[in-house]
Amino acid sequence: MFIDTHCHIDDEKFIDLDATIEEIKKAGVDTVINIGCDEKTTLHGKNLSEKYDCVYFASGFHPSEIKGLTDKSLDKIKEFALHEKCVAIGEIGLDYHWEPYDKEKQIEGFIKQIELANSLDLPISVHSRDATEDMLNLLKSHKIKKGGVMHCFSGSRETAKILLDLGFYISFAGTLTFKNARNLVEVAEFTPINRCLTETDSPYLAPVPHRGEMNTPAYVPYVTKRLAEIKKISVEEVAKQVKINAKQLFYKIK
Ligand code: NI
Repeated sequence: MFIDTHCHIDDEKFIDLDATIEEIKKAGVDTVINIGCDEKTTLHGKNLSEKYDCVYFASGFHPSEIKGLTDKSLDKIKEFALHEKCVAIGEIGLDYHWEPYDKEKQIEGFIKQIELANSLDLPISVHSRDATEDMLNLLKSHKIKKGGVMHCFSGSRETAKILLDLGFYISFAGTLTFKNARNLVEVAEFTPINRCLTETDSPYLAPVPHRGEMNTPAYVPYVTKRLAEIKKISVEEVAKQVKINAKQLFYKIK
């Protein structure tokens, strides 16, 4: 009944994927979306989606990998995106955290991939770190035809409001369960339940009580449960609504 809308099970930290998929199912998670960061990880996600029923994937270049985005690799991203189990272009966006970064190239690559998503009628999965102002300006000036999600949201309530007004979904990750997540809790209170998504971003950012350990999509129920506490509604209800939201945005999910 749970869904992880953003994970990286293509990561080499997942050494026994058959076992991971078993754990995921045992935890009640029936759908996971493996997000691409470059050509290689997207291809890996595609292969996993062909092997495992519950796995879908997104195709794209992460801003930190943007130097690899050439005309040729953009063609590959497009080819992967036509796959029946590719549900989004992502993760794409801006990351001014890890230096050195090439702002111009990141913005150019982001826009190219937004245009690709629009041309293929696909939504986008967006990554934004230390780049709020540029991100919001860019999303305001570029129409996103099939909508998108701000993954692992960590911004303010004001930023969330702008994104919601632009039609975006807000995705909550393990960070929502952290003790010091006061701002994020406020964002979760504020965001209407029909615009919330859940994710793990595994293998990173494991939720409490597994904080500091390797993360896995099997832990997404901890995020859903925390969201339910904040919203003061049942876990079942939140899980059900989040699934509806995910299927609305990522409409290729069966
Ligand atoms: Ni990610």
